[in-house]
Order: sequence, then C-alpha cells, then structure tokens
Amino acid sequence: MANHLLALWDFNKEQLAGYVKQALDMKAETKSGIKLSHLGGKVLGMIFEKPSTRTRVSFEAAMYNLGGQVIYLSGKDTQLARNEPLKDMARVMARYVDGLVVRTFGQEIVDELAKYSSVPVINALTDLHHPCQVLSDIMTVLECKGDIENLKITWIGDGNNMANSWIQAASRLGFALNLACPEGYDPDPEILKKAQDEAVKPIEIVRDPQEAIRDSDVINTDVWASMGQEGEEKLRRKVFQPYQVNSGLLAGAEANPIVLHCLPAHRGEEITDEVLESKHCVAFDQAENKLHIHKAILAEHLG
Ligand code: CP
Ligand code: NVA
Repeated sequence: MANHLLALWDFNKEQLAGYVKQALDMKAETKSGIKLSHLGGKVLGMIFEKPSTRTRVSFEAAMYNLGGQVIYLSGKDTQLARNEPLKDMARVMARYVDGLVVRTFGQEIVDELAKYSSVPVINALTDLHHPCQVLSDIMTVLECKGDIENLKITWIGDGNNMANSWIQAASRLGFALNLACPEGYDPDPEILKKAQDEAVKPIEIVRDPQEAIRDSDVINTDVWASMGQEGEEKLRRKVFQPYQVNSGLLAGAEANPIVLHCLPAHRGEEITDEVLESKHCVAFDQAENKLHIHKAILAEHLG
C-alpha cells in the first residue's frame, strides 16, 4: 500500500515528531539559502473541491521548492463533477503523478481515493480532519514554547475538523487538551473516545470557556462555521458568542499564552481584531510553517 497521510493517528509519536523536526531543518536550510532538491523530476497532483489560499499555495510552493512540479485541479474541472467513480479517478491519476494532495468534503472520499491509489494520497482537509494544518501548528508551538508535552492546550469553539486533528495529536504526542465547545457542537465522539482511551494526559470537554482557559499556555480557535456549513452561519453566530477569544477571556490564561488560529479568521466573531493583532497571536507564523511542514510531508511521502 502507498504511504498515505489521511489522519494523524495513523502515525506514532516518533513519526509525528519526525515531520516537525524535518520541517524545522528545512526551514533553517531554506532561510540560509540552501536549495533543496528532494523531489526533482516528480509531479504532484492536487484535487481541491473546497476553496483554499494557504494550503494550496504552500503545497504548490513546497513542491517547487523541492524541485518538483504540480498539476492543480479544482473539483469542478475533473470528471468527478460528472460522477466519475473515485476508484477510477484514483487509478488513472496514479498513472500520471507521484502523489495526490486532496481537499474535499467527506473523509470517505479521501479514504476511497487512497484505497485505490498506488501513489500516496495526502489529506489537505476534509470535514473530519485537517492533519497537515495541525502539524504546522505543533511546529509553531515548539518554536514558541520549546516544548509541547508539558503544556496545557485549550481549544475554544467548534468541535470541527481542526479540533478532531488536535485531539488525535494530543493522544499521540501526550499533551493535555481542554476543549470548550457549546453543547451540540462537540468533536467527533468516536475520535474523542478513542483518543481518551489511548491518551496519557487528560483530553476533556469543558463547557465553560473561562474554566477551560485557566492556566493554559496555548489557546486555539477556528471559524464558527466551516466550509460547507454556510447555511448555519446565523444560528452559529448566536450559539458561539460566549466562545469568542477576546482579551477578557485571554486574561484568565497563563501569563504569556500564545494564540493559534489556522486562518482564515472572521474578526469580531471567533476572535477579536485586538487578539489577532496582539503579541500573543502567532497565526502568521503558523501560516508560514505550512510551507515548511508541507516540504517535510512531500519529501517523506513522495521521496
Ligand atoms: N488554514 C488553511 O487551511 O487555510 P486555507 O483554507 O486558506 O488553505
Ligand atoms: N474548520 C475550517 C478550517 C479552514 C482552514 C473549515 O473546514 O472551513
């Protein structure tokens, strides 16, 4: 079977730490002017059925930085839009390219592509997971705090794809994770249960954001309505209001917390402009680190 990256808990602690170490090394090499050539002569296919700024551009730039080339396909440009079976798409694409990066809706779509693809399939976001993003977030935490295992990390807001991938990271890497989600918007129950069963430190739902954030070193949030949930925006704005990351809430955290946001942000909703622009917020470092983590992922999976 090809070496796919579909969800974080397909990997052990050493493998997850390995991506981050490789990304930190590649970042240092790139900054010192060293040219990388791990994927010379290779071609990456990218199939995106949802919009993207950061993930698309950083994967494309990463592939070019490693000496490879990219073919980008938006979902509507392929025969998938006319219901070509995924198992046919996967087998055809695998004859042209050396790896596939896929952003789509259901996790079962990337799982099916991976099942039939003889080249690696990398999950660039589904409704259930956003594994590559969480790897760049972990890299950013390590850069800022020098550690992750002994930190208290808090997720505030929707129990969405990002929250699910953070839960998996917590169970594999062994850090404590609090999740403050409104009732009815919890993370995936199966993912939560499995992670809690396997975790060495607590992974807990704490409804009250003030309580969840107490003594936290890292505060993490994301949009209240993810891609595909546009019809729920109005209701969600009401339900999630008490979960806004603002300076009042932040005052209850550790003395020098960092604030993560994978972006795009809706200022004035899940996070205030003040917090996003504050010294605590490392969202733009996270965005930069996507480039380096994607180089590490592509080198590992397509190399
Ligand atoms: N963080 C992230 O995945 O951003 P894009 O949707 O712009 O790719
Ligand atoms: N939860 C968000 C993440 C965007 C990068 C979404 O799926 O839209």
